[in-house]
Amino acid sequence: MTTQITSLEEYHREYAKSIEDPESFWKKEAETFHWFQPFDEVLKWNFEEPNVKWFLNGKTNITYNALDRHIAERGDKTAILWEPNDPEDTVINLSYKELLEEVCKCANALKKFGIKKGDRVVFYMPMVPELTIGVLACARIGAVHSVVFAGFSAQALSDRVNDAQAKMIICSDFNRRGSKNIPVKKVVDDALEIGCSSIENVLVHKNTGDSISWNSLKDKWWHEELDGQESYCTAEEMDSEDLLFILYTSGSTGKPKGVVHTVGGYMVYTSYSFRNVFQYQENDVYWCTADIGWITGHSYIIYGPLLSGATTVMFEGVPTYPTPARFWQICEKHKVNQFYTAPTAIRALMAYGDHLPAESDLSSIKVLGSVGEPINEEAWHWYDKHIGKGKAPIVDTWWQTETGGILISPLPGITDTKPTYASYPLPGIQTVLVDVEGNELKENNVEGLLCIKHPWPSMIRTTYGDHERCKNVYFSAFKGMYFTGDGARKDDEGRIRVIGRVDDVINVSGHRMGTAEVENAINEHPAVVESAIVGYPHDIKGQGIYAFVITQGVAKDDTTRKEILEVVKREIGPIAKPDKIQFVNGLPKTRSGKIMRRILRKIASNEADSLGDISTLLNPECVKEVIDGNRTLI
Ligand code: WTA
Repeated sequence: MTTQITSLEEYHREYAKSIEDPESFWKKEAETFHWFQPFDEVLKWNFEEPNVKWFLNGKTNITYNALDRHIAERGDKTAILWEPNDPEDTVINLSYKELLEEVCKCANALKKFGIKKGDRVVFYMPMVPELTIGVLACARIGAVHSVVFAGFSAQALSDRVNDAQAKMIICSDFNRRGSKNIPVKKVVDDALEIGCSSIENVLVHKNTGDSISWNSLKDKWWHEELDGQESYCTAEEMDSEDLLFILYTSGSTGKPKGVVHTVGGYMVYTSYSFRNVFQYQENDVYWCTADIGWITGHSYIIYGPLLSGATTVMFEGVPTYPTPARFWQICEKHKVNQFYTAPTAIRALMAYGDHLPAESDLSSIKVLGSVGEPINEEAWHWYDKHIGKGKAPIVDTWWQTETGGILISPLPGITDTKPTYASYPLPGIQTVLVDVEGNELKENNVEGLLCIKHPWPSMIRTTYGDHERCKNVYFSAFKGMYFTGDGARKDDEGRIRVIGRVDDVINVSGHRMGTAEVENAINEHPAVVESAIVGYPHDIKGQGIYAFVITQGVAKDDTTRKEILEVVKREIGPIAKPDKIQFVNGLPKTRSGKIMRRILRKIASNEADSLGDISTLLNPECVKEVIDGNRTLI
């Protein structure tokens, strides 16, 4: 197992070692895993191309380390503890032994379909054990998984399938969310109809059994294909730098990009960070409420916990069904020791009142985690008082799809915590704040742009099919550094607080949304001439989506608003629907024709009094109209 730091002194010592000699530091951690062939070089890198390789020429398989390796010692221990949407339905406990068998059966079925090492398989599924089984089955045979959050639209799904040139989609018939059954297979059918020419087969897991349409040439049932398969499948020998998965995420321009993670580095870092940030002990029950459609689910429901031999809870449902006390009831039911969720969920549940968590026995909780967006002070204190009862440290974990694992976080019971501060970089992580020119701000009490100046094992390797984009987005802003896109401040003792994105990405309920992506969707409405999206403060979601829209030939009313929302839902999915739509006649622009989002952001945030100088705009006259419109909208 990777090292687990247990004291403050050790944290300082390990951190210092990791900076002085990163290669020896990570070599030691990597050697705790099983390698079919040992690596002969720890790290080769430059941030110019960029080209980063860890554990060179090492051959391993992440599922061997997440499953087979544990069988002797904890084969009967629960690996996945699945809690169904309906609390009356049966809980599923899959032991390490059982999980390995299921993964192998699925891997053998995938092979039968001709899925080979390097082929891409897209998942579009609810939070059922089969999702984890399928993902691990891909990793078992060296196929590259790409999980698409099952709330995205058919259009968004087909875009991702086509970008990845996937051979197969694995989905469910229906998805259970609260009192609703959502037709998942239908979305896949629609995506295929839009056009996914690389798809040869669709493997369908029967989840609810509701009726679906069936294409007998392509569609196959999961249970029929797995039935009778051998319960063992040899783990494919993967090079450390072979692709493990692609996960699509939004950026400030264009369509979502496929962030690529590779086997060896991701394996080492997700396990190391999991064991340290959550201080997992052998008999603990760990629960991360994220969806596997996002990076948090990949790294901290599946890989980090399983590589560490943990019991990881997987929850099918939603926080408010059948009651907004559901999370707390599950914590009591399964005696959860580490609970990891997003600020947006905390704020939403906080609004239902303090009595709900008080009705559940939360005494098992030792560590509370927060992820995905800045946690505001009020939510932090509520979480601390009503869920942790003042005795469970909160780990405010900062990281990104691109970082693969948590880079900045307190270590519970070891380093201190401070509301709204992600605090300290983990060992091996060389965070720096820079000014706009890229000068390092070394002193404390400063605000700047968050960069990382040395590679870490689980960092992004490329954006799938477009390496230039990876270089331009992350490695071109500041020479020799990875730029996160986030602004941050350091307090007088060097703790880091991540303030939020400084690019055109907004963070809605912990989900990343590219403003350009939403604008492109809105512009698909035939009457829309132009649109601009900005984020504005939202009590529950953190940021809401505010759309300024110029239309032609239609009424500027709620009917048009509804149509626009439908278009966004169709193009991306319900999560991208604007919270507010304001019709305008003009958008403030620079002389070179660029939309001045800074001004729109202020107007949307009710800060129109501090717009500053607008006289250099191409069309300053439109600003008053936009401000007036905003006032009447609210
Ligand atoms: C934001 C989610 C403040 C940040 C794991 C980052 C945070 C983006 C925190 C990545 C945090 C994530 N405090 N901001 N603890 N965690 N963020 O790729 O802006 O979905 O760049 O990864 O979320 O979002 P992503």
